[in-house]
Amino acid sequence: GMNNVHVEQILPSTNEYLLDKIPNLTNGQTCITECQTAGRGRRGRQWVSPFASHLYFSMYWRLEAGIEKASGLSLLVGIAVVNALEKLGIQAVGLKWPNDLYYQGKKLAGILIELNAQASEVCHCVIGIGINIRMPAHQADAIDQPWTDLNTINAQPIDRNHLSGLLITELQTLLADYEEKGLSPFLARWFELDCFLNQDVNLIMADKIQKGICRGINEQGALLLEVDQQVTPYIGGEISLRLA
Ligand code: BTN
Repeated sequence: GMNNVHVEQILPSTNEYLLDKIPNLTNGQTCITECQTAGRGRRGRQWVSPFASHLYFSMYWRLEAGIEKASGLSLLVGIAVVNALEKLGIQAVGLKWPNDLYYQGKKLAGILIELNAQASEVCHCVIGIGINIRMPAHQADAIDQPWTDLNTINAQPIDRNHLSGLLITELQTLLADYEEKGLSPFLARWFELDCFLNQDVNLIMADKIQKGICRGINEQGALLLEVDQQVTPYIGGEISLRLA
């Protein structure tokens, strides 16, 4: 079998590495690499993954309740990453629905959860997390949105091993809680961390853009958008949020 934490020098993608090993994985098995040659971002984008610069991390988890439970998962993972960073002394990191981490309006980390599930069966999840630690100058232009890294926002250099350990503990604790109790116990924490709460936003969907006021999330992890004084939940997937 595989060690609980599998560390590589170079891989196409830590998500792909774990996805290839389903169903022979156990909860919490983790893969970390120094460099990805085909790092994946959401919506088919690439994730810039230079050597020894950032954290490229994936963890396997199976949801016994099946795929219905997967919609709130990315929100929970975002909370786990913020908690781990706080334990390192890094404050004021916020969340952007459904699962980006922001610091002062700039992206610090991203989450890509890939699922392997048949209807009404156990849902195999690979939880991929990329955290910017120290962006090399020559990579900075390759990124199409405002970004920051931990080296910029924290006076002390970041120990990636320490961060990885905290992340594993935090994820295992929160995922077990989530399986038992769902998202409800985490709603208050989400509202505390939500960067866009009560702000004018554009919700970008496959076929249109909806303007509204962000009113947080519900127990399914859906975005609550207020339009003409009426609040409507929008489930995740191919939609994302921008400040209006
Ligand atoms: C996003 O688009 O914001 C999600 C980025 C997720 C990147 C991480 S890095 C580790 C894991 N392996 C991948 O190929 N992608 C995720």
